[in-house]
Amino acid sequence: MKTSPIGIFDSGIGGLTVARQIVKLLPSESIIYLGDTARVPYGPRSKAVITKFAKELTNFLIKCNVKCLVVACNTISATCLDEIRKVSPVPVFGVVEPTIELAIKTTKTNKIGIIGTEGTIKSGTYVRKIHEINPKIEVDSAACPLFVPIAEEGLGAHKATELIAKDYLRDLKKSQIDTLILACTHYPLLSQVIQETMGAKVTLIDSAKPTAEKLKESLEERKLLSDKKAKYEFYVTDAPDRVFKVASRFFGKILNDNLKQVTLPTS
Ligand code: DGL
Repeated sequence: MKTSPIGIFDSGIGGLTVARQIVKLLPSESIIYLGDTARVPYGPRSKAVITKFAKELTNFLIKCNVKCLVVACNTISATCLDEIRKVSPVPVFGVVEPTIELAIKTTKTNKIGIIGTEGTIKSGTYVRKIHEINPKIEVDSAACPLFVPIAEEGLGAHKATELIAKDYLRDLKKSQIDTLILACTHYPLLSQVIQETMGAKVTLIDSAKPTAEKLKESLEERKLLSDKKAKYEFYVTDAPDRVFKVASRFFGKILNDNLKQVTLPTS
């Protein structure tokens, strides 16, 4: 069990920003990454469909004998983490809780902003979980759906992105938050334009590092840390050629020939 891989999944390649931090923090851990590139984006989809897809991704990774699952996708974590936990025989880690814990520690004014996909914002999960910990915190949120394709196209520094960011973030800027949660796998790639738009006084928090830290802590507690040399495997459900070209922006290095296309058994 200790040397079994960690299963990480996402609606596409964005979860590689989370995988990148896991690999950095836990260099002896093997990972199997699964991205549903055939059906991305999940952001605009209904809860029923996101849950169905997420269970299919879960089943695939369980069959790979992973020792735990990391739901790197904010949309899936915010929509159906409990449903995934119900069907998984191994521990399941989402991105929402570690991220809000860090945001709550960071805010000094008790005013937090959240940006994410339509699904993440519509679910209300971030707001609800923040209020479970501290009901006095004011939370404002905004969906920023175009940030996903912009990040994949590598257009973070484009003039059009500046205008789109200004438009999406206008109300959040007025609401005087001091901490902004980037509740989407893709947004760390746009942190520069988001920071410039929000101003230097706002601290940006993304999910990758706190999730990797939480995972490390929990594997340590369960005595499940690996002591073998790590191996990385990457699976996608469509277009591995495109993934190969774009993935290094998210993962920080080239995926090499460990990237394969798979077909998921549908439920
Ligand atoms: N991975 C998704 C998330 O973090 C973004 C892409 C999508 O909409 O599927 O919310």
